[in-house]
Amino acid sequence: MLRVAILGFGFMGQTHYQAWKKQPGVQVVALCDANPNFVQDSQKTQGNIALNKEPIDFSALGIYHDFNDMLKREKLDVVSITLPTFLHADFTVQALKAGLSVLCEKPMALTAKDCDRMISAAGKSGKKLQIGHCLRFWPEYVWAKNIVESKTYGSLRAASFRRYTAMPAWSDSWFADESRSGGMPLDLHIHDVDYIQYLLGMPESITSYGIQNKNNSIIHIVSQYEYDGHLITAEGGWAMMPTFVFEMGFTLILERATVVFTTRNQPTIQVFPAQGEVFTPELPQNDGYFNEIAYFARELQGISQPQIITPQQARDSVRLVELEKKSVQTGKKVMVKVNKAK
Ligand SMILES: NC(=O)c1ccc[n+]([C@@H]2O[C@H](COP(=O)([O-])OP(=O)(O)OC[C@H]3O[C@@H](n4cnc5c(N)ncnc54)[C@H](O)[C@@H]3O)[C@@H](O)[C@H]2O)c1
Repeated sequence: MLRVAILGFGFMGQTHYQAWKKQPGVQVVALCDANPNFVQDSQKTQGNIALNKEPIDFSALGIYHDFNDMLKREKLDVVSITLPTFLHADFTVQALKAGLSVLCEKPMALTAKDCDRMISAAGKSGKKLQIGHCLRFWPEYVWAKNIVESKTYGSLRAASFRRYTAMPAWSDSWFADESRSGGMPLDLHIHDVDYIQYLLGMPESITSYGIQNKNNSIIHIVSQYEYDGHLITAEGGWAMMPTFVFEMGFTLILERATVVFTTRNQPTIQVFPAQGEVFTPELPQNDGYFNEIAYFARELQGISQPQIITPQQARDSVRLVELEKKSVQTGKKVMVKVNKAK
């Protein structure tokens, strides 16, 4: 039985809890959050994607407010780190040193340099580290990757990815503070950056344009990624009005089909083939959060499965966002140096 703890019981901590507790061979044994009222406060948590919440029996769980205290008292195999981003690196390194495997939320850390520290700690510990890039496990995005790779509708000619929201309002102001969240490009837009890297590998170069707020923090971005033979763009921002709530989506321009996905439509995804009727593919019901946790649980249980994400790839996504910020600030195209050893 894998003994799991969750560190940071806000929006994502509760999302991880709901997914971990449905996995076979897994027991969630403890929760830790610095907020002294987190048990009561968790009843009113909100996020950008509606949580499918089932009631939590807190009496069956160890409840902690300090990670060291939890480490001393609980026998654990794995911890989900669902803390604000500026805390990811230090707590991940501490957990790995304590002999735990770690599922750390995206973005991996505030800087690529911090990601390197985490990768080095994972290597030394011999424990597993996975970063929560849930789009790699999200049914519509999994389907799109299969369609592109199998060339069912010919080669991919162009693709655009979109992610828009109002400023996250479910937490205190750490999201708005670039020194703690990395700002919108690292917090929100990185989902699409990481998926593009997953789909096509590292681009040759990036050119980004952005809107900045009064603190010079980028609140809306449009990026073009240079790949041989493909026109790839992504747009993201958290400058939408609160009533807009959230939208993610993509358009794929294939040789023999167009595919449009948006969380705003029902059905969310439609395929417009060169021949035949418009259709919606049948997709599995579980969301990307559940699937990424199921994948990590199987990794920890020694079940063989195809590689979907490595810490180095998650680190490279942080690096790509750093380069996008540089492109916005300089107004120039930025070349991407690729580290071939992954
Ligand atoms: N994968 C996704 O789709 C997705 C969506 C939202 C957020 N995220 C990421 O998940 C992470 C957490 O975001 P969130 O929305 O859950 O934030 P949140 O503010 O809702 O939750 C963070 C929790 O950490 C607790 N905390 C802060 N410092 C602590 C400490 N030192 N020790 C213990 N607890 C502490 C806070 O009290 C809070 O309950 C961020 O990195 C964010 O970018 C990912």
